[in-house]
Amino acid sequence: MKNIKIIQAPLAGISDIVYRKLIREKSKETLLTTEMISSEALDKKKKTLIIEYDKCEYPLSFQLSGHKPHIMAQAAKFLNERASCIDINFGCPVNKVVKGTDGAAMMRNPKLASDIVKAIKDVINVPLSAKFRLGWSLDEINFVEFAKTLEEAGVDFITIHARTRSQMYSGSADWEKLAQLKGEIKIPYFANGDIKSVQDAINCLIMSGAQGISIGRGLMGNPYLAWHIEHYFKTGQILEELTLEEKIEILKRHIEGEVQLRGEKNGIKFMRKFYNFYISSVRDASKYRQVLVRIETKEEVLRVLDEILSLHLANSR
Ligand SMILES: Cc1cc2nc3c(=O)[nH]c(=O)nc-3n(C[C@H](O)[C@H](O)[C@H](O)COP(=O)(O)O)c2cc1C
Repeated sequence: MKNIKIIQAPLAGISDIVYRKLIREKSKETLLTTEMISSEALDKKKKTLIIEYDKCEYPLSFQLSGHKPHIMAQAAKFLNERASCIDINFGCPVNKVVKGTDGAAMMRNPKLASDIVKAIKDVINVPLSAKFRLGWSLDEINFVEFAKTLEEAGVDFITIHARTRSQMYSGSADWEKLAQLKGEIKIPYFANGDIKSVQDAINCLIMSGAQGISIGRGLMGNPYLAWHIEHYFKTGQILEELTLEEKIEILKRHIEGEVQLRGEKNGIKFMRKFYNFYISSVRDASKYRQVLVRIETKEEVLRVLDEILSLHLANSR
């Protein structure tokens, strides 16, 4: 994990094998991450692996959620043979998750979080990371203490989404706040939240003092952003942003992959979450999105995408 500077942040219902492989096409070093896997579900399903993955994706991290140390340890032991790294979700803000004390609720229970880390650490030999937020709310900011607790328990690195649980996804990520970690922990920390361009990555690293960055929504509709950032780190050059033509070409392959994975009906339904991101630069993007999300067949989606592209090219001449 020494050379990792970019992590693809886990996105439930988004970061499946097709999405991750699009990122891997160009970026060889980004640490890819599966969608969150519930340790309880893994336990109940008698360890049938519920996440599709491929060897070409490595380095690949598997993210686990849960609050029972022995169940988390069992799940981690099972994933250990498959993963380059295991990540623990201590940051999910969703009610369904925090009600069960999972996700961000664990930031209010550092003793239990520490027990989970120790239990997992005992049974795996790949690196262990944890992802969390600034704290539960602006009145309960405890990421520095939480980071120290997890470091002591044995995590190898951490990612922090620079918002509180109460903020959910509102406002802006506070990259500057993360600089409070400098000198407080020895393990690397990755900054997460609102990185959508190479320039954002540069600014975030400077402001947070982090050793690397983690990108979630910035890769939706722009899977080559990870490669552009990687290229900048290696050469100091900022590559041209993708044109609409290039984005639509990637989108078509994304659609093709999801249709192959899920079948046409479900694949096309699944892709509705992505159109906004891929075609955001088009004039009247929201109008086209509304058309695209009603379509049920691949053929028709591809036809509308071609139409959007020709109109865009004609308008920009
Ligand atoms: C649709 C969606 C699903 C998410 N799923 C997860 C998840 O499974 N595990 C996790 O740790 N964070 C999850 N997150 C949080 C992201 O990983 C990330 O921390 C957050 O979106 C902020 O980063 P970004 O601005 O780069 O997207 C999710 C966020 C979104 C929007």
